[in-house]
Amino acid sequence: VPVSRIRNFSIIAHIDHGKSTLADRLLQVTGTVQAREMKEQFLDSMDLERERGITIKLQAARMNYKAQDGEEYVLNLIDTPGHVDFSYEVSRSLAACEGALLVVDASQGVEAQTLANVYLAIENDLEIIPVLNKIDLPGAEPERVKDEIEEIVGLDCSGAIHASAKAGIGVDEILESIVHLVPPPEDTTDKPLRALIFDSYYDVYRGVIVYFRVMDGTVKTGDRIHLMASGKEFDIDELGVLSPTQVQVGELHAGEVGYIAASIKAVEDARVGDTITLAKAEAADPLPGYVEAKPMVFCGMFPIDADQFPDLRDALERLKLNDAALNYEPETSSAMGFGFRCGFLGLLHMEIVQERLEREYNLNLIITAPSVVYRVTTNTGEVITIDNPSTLPEPNHREKIEEPSVQVDMITPEEFVGTLMELGQDRRGEFKDMKYLTPGRTTLIYQLPLAEVVTDFFDQMKSRSRGYASMEYQLIGYRENHLVKLDILINEDPVDSLAAIVHRDKAYGMGRALVSKLKELIPRHQFKIPIQAAIGSKVIASERIPALRKDVLAKCYGGDVSRKRKLLEKQKKGKKRMKSVGSVDVPQEAFMAVLKLK
Ligand code: GTP
Repeated sequence: VPVSRIRNFSIIAHIDHGKSTLADRLLQVTGTVQAREMKEQFLDSMDLERERGITIKLQAARMNYKAQDGEEYVLNLIDTPGHVDFSYEVSRSLAACEGALLVVDASQGVEAQTLANVYLAIENDLEIIPVLNKIDLPGAEPERVKDEIEEIVGLDCSGAIHASAKAGIGVDEILESIVHLVPPPEDTTDKPLRALIFDSYYDVYRGVIVYFRVMDGTVKTGDRIHLMASGKEFDIDELGVLSPTQVQVGELHAGEVGYIAASIKAVEDARVGDTITLAKAEAADPLPGYVEAKPMVFCGMFPIDADQFPDLRDALERLKLNDAALNYEPETSSAMGFGFRCGFLGLLHMEIVQERLEREYNLNLIITAPSVVYRVTTNTGEVITIDNPSTLPEPNHREKIEEPSVQVDMITPEEFVGTLMELGQDRRGEFKDMKYLTPGRTTLIYQLPLAEVVTDFFDQMKSRSRGYASMEYQLIGYRENHLVKLDILINEDPVDSLAAIVHRDKAYGMGRALVSKLKELIPRHQFKIPIQAAIGSKVIASERIPALRKDVLAKCYGGDVSRKRKLLEKQKKGKKRMKSVGSVDVPQEAFMAVLKLK
């Protein structure tokens, strides 16, 4: 097809507003996927995603559509992940499009995360088509939601489409709008090749599969390509389109979307945002906007059984093939032994990796509380970064500590403003602004340390607002603060993996809360166990776990063997998630206790 009949678009929607359902509908109505081969929600392909009901990785689909004007069009849908941790990937997939459907649940309204993505779309000059989904619901209020979109986003909603992805209402209208409102790509086939990578994944047989949009020029099977950011070169083994399964083609031109396989060993070599050009006819400049994804949150991962260390290393290596943003380095802890210090984009990314290590690789791990990356100026004037609290230089060796700071935008029904402001205040937040969006809905803007956000901020916001508030945050830079290292001593030994960097004014309260929490979490032993919190050499709180008096088996009166076995089984199960620290067994929950205070 000529470029004038290509349309590249994506769907922006808050979680659960119906993006996947609509995508499935579009595939079905255009005959791209037959109803019978339609698995529920074609676009979310990872099991983990389906279980959690969120979209993590993006995918793409090419549809042929015969419009009412009688012409055949190619519509490329580029999916976007729906979580803050992956906003860079969203920005790259939007950069590959000329338009976007803004899908809003007509019974709910605009959410913070949707807004963030709408602004990304506006920055990328996309044509935005508002779609009010779920109008079949009795609670749908399309007019109110239209006003809200106009007010908040400043988008004309007079032509907003009333739709129900579930009932199939408004789907033709959406397809016609894509054809008529989304501009075709520019025809730059004559220029040197530049293709934007918006996704990539590792395939065991073919190496990394790269999804891209050709921005300029032409790419053919057999071409030798050069990746402008990674500097690597590869020969294309396979070139194709996604309809939505991979179908090989000979060449792709400016405006088209497709995939390549080129025996690329790891996604690191073909990162999202990188520019593909031809080795023998290079483009002068890469496409704008490439940023190497930087981990923001770190934690330690230690096998419970030290013998599993090599397995953990292999598993991380394999996950890394498919996840350029995952970072890891060996770490030796005096309390925990050998493990890895791992870096992630955010908490969700961290949880996903943990879950895969345990589920897909059968590893039993102890994971330490997440930490952000601090910037420390030493007394010799050197600036170092610290991602592990236990490595913080002693007070007499450092001049200042700076911590990453974020701006959080929360959108909430008015009635929860009070309790959310309390939350902001409580987490060392600085109140910046409050905007009344539409009657009943408010945006609260706070600046606060990232460390306070990566703990349970999101959960707190959700529970305080009974699920109605939504949030979005972005990094705004580093701020100096009065931070200290809080050490925890178990049985008189400092446990490096329990150390935390906390604000000076909060240290006493946290120390007390933490030792009493640990007292609850650590089981009794044959001996008594002192637990202390300390700043430097000063103990600020202490508790003591009394010794166990009786053997558990004593309760069984000797006789009942099966009962005894059951009890032993139970103990063994309980032990699975324990790590021996010195002579004390410490359960997994203890390492996360610092996140669960109050
Ligand atoms: P993520 O994949 O997590 O981003 O969510 P999503 O936005 O893709 O939402 P999804 O399509 O999974 O829809 C969420 C829920 O809303 C599902 O239970 C759908 O069946 C339902 N749903 C989607 N569209 C409609 C609609 O038009 N009407 C009604 N009544 N329900 C809908």
